[in-house]
Amino acid sequence: MRKDLLTIGEVNTDDIEKILEKGLCYKKEKEQGKTSCPLIGKSLGMLFEKASTRTRVSFEVAMYQLGGQAIFLTPLETQLGRGESIADTAKVLSRYLDGMVVRTFSQKTLEEFAECSSIPVINGLTDMHHPCQGLSDLFTIKEKKGGFRGIRLAYLGDGNNVAHSLIEGSSKVGMDIVLACPKGYEPNKEIVDKAMNDAKKNGCRIEVLNDPVEAVEDVDVLYTDVWTSMGQESEKKQRIDTFKDYQINQQIVNRAKKDVMVMHCLPAYRGKEITAEVIDGPNSVVFEQAENRLYVEKAILDIYLGSSLKG
Ligand code: CP
Ligand code: NVA
Repeated sequence: MRKDLLTIGEVNTDDIEKILEKGLCYKKEKEQGKTSCPLIGKSLGMLFEKASTRTRVSFEVAMYQLGGQAIFLTPLETQLGRGESIADTAKVLSRYLDGMVVRTFSQKTLEEFAECSSIPVINGLTDMHHPCQGLSDLFTIKEKKGGFRGIRLAYLGDGNNVAHSLIEGSSKVGMDIVLACPKGYEPNKEIVDKAMNDAKKNGCRIEVLNDPVEAVEDVDVLYTDVWTSMGQESEKKQRIDTFKDYQINQQIVNRAKKDVMVMHCLPAYRGKEITAEVIDGPNSVVFEQAENRLYVEKAILDIYLGSSLKG
């Protein structure tokens, strides 16, 4: 396993399974009222350049429950905001901390941070990838559908960071994924092409369409994300218009399998990418999906920061 978790694409299938299995152990542990603390005395830095509810809180709680501590950092409160370089920041923080979660804009910044760090760096979201979300979503799908073989997920909306991590994740575990995005908003071609190779090896398919109705026919999982991601606020009005036919609503749900599971990474905007009827309806698992972030992040921290990495 690599030192860092920057994309799902760079994690092999066995290691993904290892993360999902450990995540399940942590979920069971919680249900049984037990706790194990493999990270006593360890410190996690959390450098966030964008807003966060789930990622921030679940990682902070995960670190506490594992016996360690988390230190939340933003550019404003560190010298980064006054022009200290990424490289110097990464080198210094590596001398205090045992791992970092970084949420930033460009994947390049994250890669530079990771290269200059001697400690594991975990991607807490960039413009291009959201691997912790993707891994946690695989966990939820496995938990609810019993596995990935023969499962088909349809993603409607923007070919964004969450879509990229879902594409990479699906291709690694052998799950079919079909995306329907407006023209010009399809996922990154390089990411799709690379994932197609993995998909071929793992016996599954990746399709990118423009027609949402065609995409959702008989699918097992429906997934959507915001139409305007963080950093794209100036395009919001135009995006609402471009994406209006890609909403997950009851008509879309009716075209999928009867027991279709509706997912959303959250935050959600009811009446935009998903209707209130659907997100608050019987097929939706969004809050358990959000809860699962905690167990999968405990697994990620245990494996990347703890002794499991060396094993
Ligand atoms: N899904 C997700 O990553 O949410 P936050 O932006 O609140 O962390
Ligand atoms: N695509 C969204 C995900 C938020 C968790 C964004 O980047 O804002």
